[in-house]
Amino acid sequence: MRLSCVLTLLGLTSYSLAGVTVQKPGLSVPAKYAANRAAAEKIFTTSYAAYKEFAFGHDELLPVSESFEDDLGGWGASLVDAMGTMLVMGLDDLFTETLNFTSQIDFNTPPAAGLVSVFETTIRFVGGLLSAYELSGEQHPILVTKAKQVADKLAFAWVGDNVIPFGHIDFPSNTPNIAVTNIAEAGTLTLEWTTLSKFTNNATYGNLATQSVLHIADLASPLPGLAPQDIDPASGEFDGAYLSWGGGSDSYFEYLLKFARLSNTNNNVYIDTWKTAVDSSIRTLLKTSTVGNHSYLADDNGGEIIHVGSHLACFFPGNWLLGGKLLQNQTIIDFALKLNDGCWNTYASTETGIGPEGFAFISPDGNFTGGGTITPQQLAFNSEHGFYITSSDYIQRPEVLESNFYAWRVTGDTKYLDRAAAAIASFNKFLPATVAFAGLNDVDDFSAGLIDITESFWFAEVLKYLYLTFDDPSHISLDDYVFNTECHPLKAPPALNSYGSGNFIPQKPFTAHTTGAPRPAISPI
Ligand SMILES: *[C@@H]1O[C@H](CO)[C@@H](O)[C@H](O)[C@H]1NC(C)=O
Ligand SMILES: *[C@@H]1O[C@H](CO)[C@@H](O)[C@H](O)[C@H]1NC(C)=O
Ligand SMILES: *[C@@H]1O[C@H](CO)[C@@H](O)[C@H](O)[C@H]1NC(C)=O
Ligand SMILES: *[C@@H]1O[C@H](CO)[C@@H](O)[C@H](O)[C@H]1NC(C)=O
Ligand SMILES: *[C@@H]1O[C@H](CO)[C@@H](O)[C@H](O)[C@H]1NC(C)=O
Repeated sequence: MRLSCVLTLLGLTSYSLAGVTVQKPGLSVPAKYAANRAAAEKIFTTSYAAYKEFAFGHDELLPVSESFEDDLGGWGASLVDAMGTMLVMGLDDLFTETLNFTSQIDFNTPPAAGLVSVFETTIRFVGGLLSAYELSGEQHPILVTKAKQVADKLAFAWVGDNVIPFGHIDFPSNTPNIAVTNIAEAGTLTLEWTTLSKFTNNATYGNLATQSVLHIADLASPLPGLAPQDIDPASGEFDGAYLSWGGGSDSYFEYLLKFARLSNTNNNVYIDTWKTAVDSSIRTLLKTSTVGNHSYLADDNGGEIIHVGSHLACFFPGNWLLGGKLLQNQTIIDFALKLNDGCWNTYASTETGIGPEGFAFISPDGNFTGGGTITPQQLAFNSEHGFYITSSDYIQRPEVLESNFYAWRVTGDTKYLDRAAAAIASFNKFLPATVAFAGLNDVDDFSAGLIDITESFWFAEVLKYLYLTFDDPSHISLDDYVFNTECHPLKAPPALNSYGSGNFIPQKPFTAHTTGAPRPAISPI
């Protein structure tokens, strides 16, 4: 009998035992950094005021042309994404105003444009509405009603006996777009849909999402734990053998871990698969640059190493820190901190102090990227910085600052506060457009101009992670909350004393094949 069972029989809950902790105990932000929290809030209120004036109720603000865009259904994605940040920042009047709008969204009206992404809609709308419901003290059941309304439409992505959902839905006809999807789309629904099940007392939502992940985790993969990127919902088989922690795969791995923590499930498959994926990645994908000895995680295509990295993939240092703490595995934590430095180096190396969308590197094993050859300019940049830029834009992505937030909360090293403060200064210097904050065409050449969009995840993610980096660490503690991949915090139960079985998932014989199914007409973000 386990000790916790004995305590339960004695009338003591197992919660009275200290579960594993993620944050460094007793942490506080030194007073000299206090102005940065206000600076993050100021960027938020400035951005939101412009959204309200020029784009209210639309998906995104266009901050140069003072206009708006609707590419996520047209139901006000930025507004729904911003609600949780308002609550975290204590901007209750703004929240009340958005609540009035949110309670009137009709997800049954045809979307503004095209097909609706099950993944993008889940992480913003289902995640944003349910997180706001929790953060506002469960006082506004309309937020659950609206999350249910949109999820009931998205549930048409599961067709017949298929356990893997199709990626996109035509809302007017409730029919999916029949095409190959990817593991990020099929595997990033568990946090939101199980939370919806909890608040609606309908287990169907959670079951749909978990079945999909359990199916992916059970398939043979090229390396233990590392599922290939593409999957055909019709056959339930992988398509190809491309391994990556970047876009298209990323949050499948992220949610294997986070679902284990949010649910405290006794099904160890989730966290054991995550741990196995990390172990395979350390063995095969982890590389150091010939210049500067920076650590990066490569991709792998059928056994061939692809020496690339991306802003999107830079969530993994934070994810590995969370997992390293939950598994109490210092090896994972140490690698995570090195990888986090590698990601930060992409910020520290540019003219604007902001990192690029895509990059590549040269390591002792080679320089193959699957793309073109290295230009003389890239080689010169590489010889100075230990990586080179392949996609120069910054589209307000959060991941580098997200991992930096985890690094601060886990280690308490103030160098991470300095990095976040440097990012705020860069944003204030380089991103202001006509009315709010824009993206950059070239992080290493400011003169290349601005990108005319304020992304919804600027409100949900970038500014929330920055604010929380400088906030009292006991507020939205990583020991109390699990963030969905759009940075919407969901309340977690007290942590267990240990996670996982302690074992790795054994390798099964894998043969790569291409299903021949249609490719998606829309490329996932
Ligand atoms: C809610 O919005 C409507 C317009 O959509 C407005 O007439 C009403 O005053 C608002 N209510 C509150 C409490 O803000
Ligand atoms: C639970 O939700 C599913 C998915 O929308 C729906 O089909 C089913 O009717 C619901 N069950 C109940 C008991 O409401
Ligand atoms: C910790 O993680 C490392 C890297 O994956 C692995 O080699 C080691 O076996 C893990 N330790 C335990 C106790 O699981
Ligand atoms: C380079 O980094 C690796 C991994 O972080 C480390 O083991 C190694 O000692 C470093 N090599 C040099 C020459 O600094
Ligand atoms: C890239 O690798 C190829 C093949 O190993 C090699 O010939 C070439 O010099 C390398 N280029 C750089 C810039 O390292």
